[in-house]
Amino acid sequence: MKAKIKLDKDFTIGQIDPRIFGSFIEHLGRAVYGGIYEPGHPSADEAGFRQDVLALIRDIDVPVVRYPGGNFVSGYNWEDGVGPRAQRPRRLELAWNSIETNEIGLNEFCDWCKKAGTDPMMAVNLGTRGPDEARALVEYANFAGGTALSDLRRAHGYQKPHDIKLWCLGNEMDGPWQMGGKTATEYGRTALEAAKLMKLVDSSIQLVACGSSNTGMPTFGHWESTVLDMTYDEVDYISLHTYYGNRDGDMKSFLASAMDMDAFIQSVVSICDYTRAIKRGKKDIMLSFDEWNVWFHSNDADSAIKKWQEAPPMLEDRYDMADALVVGTMLNALLRNADRVKVACMAQLVNVIAPIMTQNGGPAWRQTIYWPYLQASRYGRGTSLRAAVESPKYDSKQYGDVPALDASAVYDAHSRTVTVFAVNRGIGDALETAIDLRAFGDARLTLHSTLHHADLTAVNTAAAPDNVAPQDGPGGTMDAGIFTALLPAASWNVLRFHV
Ligand code: AHR
Repeated sequence: MKAKIKLDKDFTIGQIDPRIFGSFIEHLGRAVYGGIYEPGHPSADEAGFRQDVLALIRDIDVPVVRYPGGNFVSGYNWEDGVGPRAQRPRRLELAWNSIETNEIGLNEFCDWCKKAGTDPMMAVNLGTRGPDEARALVEYANFAGGTALSDLRRAHGYQKPHDIKLWCLGNEMDGPWQMGGKTATEYGRTALEAAKLMKLVDSSIQLVACGSSNTGMPTFGHWESTVLDMTYDEVDYISLHTYYGNRDGDMKSFLASAMDMDAFIQSVVSICDYTRAIKRGKKDIMLSFDEWNVWFHSNDADSAIKKWQEAPPMLEDRYDMADALVVGTMLNALLRNADRVKVACMAQLVNVIAPIMTQNGGPAWRQTIYWPYLQASRYGRGTSLRAAVESPKYDSKQYGDVPALDASAVYDAHSRTVTVFAVNRGIGDALETAIDLRAFGDARLTLHSTLHHADLTAVNTAAAPDNVAPQDGPGGTMDAGIFTALLPAASWNVLRFHV
């Protein structure tokens, strides 16, 4: 089996916004309590943040973390999470049927972001609340001082404003499961008014309008076009969310899931451009793919979780080798669409459908999906190249013909490197892949890292945290600017060249 990738530094897609390597922490399950925060844990710092978890996050280099939800935000009172802890209310949390203690809120999260080397991406509640609370939250968070709300933040111990730049106008407002869910027209009006007020308080912020919760929503497409028609002048991004799963054991289709993600992105880009055209607009609406991942392993276990617990172990998918391949191809899809996808958040970061798992009082470890995420974030900065890929195909029930080779490529002029992220999603055969780098002059391989396991169901656990981990790949041969490598069946590969 043979495949080809041809690259040229003049064939570019666009500059990669580092924020496409963002992630997400929701007040859900053990993401916050037991995930990032566990006072009393041996690794906890003076503020109760787990330093073992922080170290794993810093290694990925996550530029932005969305917070506090998710479905959670649609019933959240941000005021509950600020001020003296002893006075913070315990609440029924209706999105996930849990108890929220409010021990962590906006200020602590911003402290944590500094420690994690990341920036907050804050969501406002447009479900049970509306523009007025959103306005107040921006003032509390971002206004320097001298007003009641900014002085309240200062009285809470935060003299300097948090200066949060990126804000989500609600979450999945098209979903009937969402507290305060809306029709597109209802949401469009609310989002527009919230956006106006928020930008009146701080004109430097960027705003993300809610797109559809997934392409299966009956309103998909109409929702985006209605919402953008109403909010075009005030918003900067439209959100996309998607989760894939292998519920019926159709591995070939599951491994091809990113084909759906590519098509999803293209559809939303078309709607953004249609809106710009009919408005004779001057700006492109960019995409914020602010929830994406594999999510299905924990579905059955979650239906048995008892209501009204604090931080129950929900959505704790144990990711296997196959999931890492799908995540790798999803990262490739984001890179291939770097001209329009400017923000993306792997959902989520710790314990809840996450690359990092913890035990309460115990260790933290990397799941399989941690590795492609870390490597794409570390090596995927620069200019996304338009890779011309020729690949053998396999047949799948859901997507028909699927190219076995899925690839993206990044050129970083500063470090003079070309990085190719290549997934051989063929489960039967290794793929001899020729990467044509002639347009770059002299090219030398500096890294070949391969994530591969003979068993697609292999996972990492607390006892065996490195069962699935990247190994040095075999490299290959360079002949007159064409590098040829053998990519094992079902493998994620990073090939990095100095050019
Ligand atoms: O990430 C888990 C949940 O998935 C989020 O709360 C919601 O926005 C989505 O449906």
